[in-house]
Amino acid sequence: MSSRTKPSGLTVAVLGADGYIGWPMAMHLSRQGHRVVAVDNLARRRWDREGGTYSLVPIATMARRVARWRQLTGREIIWRRADMRDFRAVDALMAEFRPQAVIHFAEQRSAPFSMIDRAHAVLTQENNVVGTLNLLFAIRDQVPDCHLIKLGTMGEYGTPNIDIEEGYLEIEHNGRRDRLPFPKVAGSFYHLSKVHDSNNIYFATRAWGVRATDLNQGVVYGVDTEDTVLHPELSTRFDFDSIWGTALNRFCAQAAVGEPLTVYGKGGQTRGFLDLRDTMACITLALHNPAERGECRVFNQFTEQFSVRELAALVAKVRESHGLKTEISHLPNPRVELEEHYYNAKHQHLLDLGLEPHYLADTLLESVIARVESLRDRVDRVLLEAPSVSWKRGGNEIWERYSGQGVSSDPVKGALAG
Ligand SMILES: NC(=O)c1ccc[n+]([C@@H]2O[C@H](COP(=O)([O-])OP(=O)(O)OC[C@H]3O[C@@H](n4cnc5c(N)ncnc54)[C@H](O)[C@@H]3O)[C@@H](O)[C@H]2O)c1
Repeated sequence: MSSRTKPSGLTVAVLGADGYIGWPMAMHLSRQGHRVVAVDNLARRRWDREGGTYSLVPIATMARRVARWRQLTGREIIWRRADMRDFRAVDALMAEFRPQAVIHFAEQRSAPFSMIDRAHAVLTQENNVVGTLNLLFAIRDQVPDCHLIKLGTMGEYGTPNIDIEEGYLEIEHNGRRDRLPFPKVAGSFYHLSKVHDSNNIYFATRAWGVRATDLNQGVVYGVDTEDTVLHPELSTRFDFDSIWGTALNRFCAQAAVGEPLTVYGKGGQTRGFLDLRDTMACITLALHNPAERGECRVFNQFTEQFSVRELAALVAKVRESHGLKTEISHLPNPRVELEEHYYNAKHQHLLDLGLEPHYLADTLLESVIARVESLRDRVDRVLLEAPSVSWKRGGNEIWERYSGQGVSSDPVKGALAG
């Protein structure tokens, strides 16, 4: 991969650094010589404990991770526990470290979680929208030249019957032309929180001259980067349950314990996907080629499109080519979404900056299947049962079954001590 410029020594705040993407990102930037401030409120570990979910790959505490990273590489990642909803904490972080860039992952990121009930919808939108607003004000007041790189999602766009552009649409209406934000018809209260964030960020770029890159990211897969493989305590999380796991991760877990892959509805739901290593590369490209003051740049961050049906077929094909038997079955869809639709989303900007993608068909075995197979004794089948949150009725059978009674299994079962 080539990037136009390769600065090092930037101070970069990684918000949500205890998460699936945030932790490998913190290491990736530290390896490149940037001064990394890793921030998280550990909410995700709490939501796991409350719901009886856990990472299939054992994960170490943040304290252990940064200590192990320092011991193996001699590099320092500065770890701070802080909640994005706490404006004083966010403002103080910006004032203390004066980052040149902030990479913002720190949000509640599960659509089913946001659809459980009113409380979870409110929690999601409050957590995400207030956190991002706090950050925008702190950037305005403390570090106005700082580049905000914000993780949005391709799900903000929904599934329109036209091509999806990268953030903006040139339109002609009643004889007049304009370039306007692409219409967004999101499919859950989580996805809507990202739409609200995008509007707030766009406004802050116009009103205050904030420089921003809004990354509409596809579904990320894989757990290994050149840094996570250095030591088990540097691993990142792998979610496979029906609240936090992606369809691909769930399929691989189902197959590993000998259950059929369960496709919701007809399985024609099509989405963008990318390898975790490409996420690292895309965000680094955005960091090294920053937005201008007052610019709100939007990149569609994915490399390939698949329908759920195609994903299941690909998992089955790759497994079968290695002698692993796999069945596919269909379940009623708990979501309200189109099950067959047109989908053609542009994703040129990051390729123009030099991204060289990995492709799922080439890496599925090593990036997901083999890892899940090696951990299949840790798969709790309860978490693979029929979809637990209905978009129409809400509710979460797993939540209801276990709340107040402990959890289905130790959520940090086998987690590395520390
Ligand atoms: N994983 C994907 O496939 C995917 C796809 C598209 C977009 N995204 C976006 O990328 C970002 C990272 O996703 P992920 O999969 O790493 O999620 P994750 O849940 O693994 O990590 C998010 C982290 O943010 C932290 N966090 C949440 N609210 C916080 C708050 N108020 N203050 C401080 N920390 C807080 C959590 O504790 C968690 O460690 C999210 O914003 C998500 O919406 C992810």
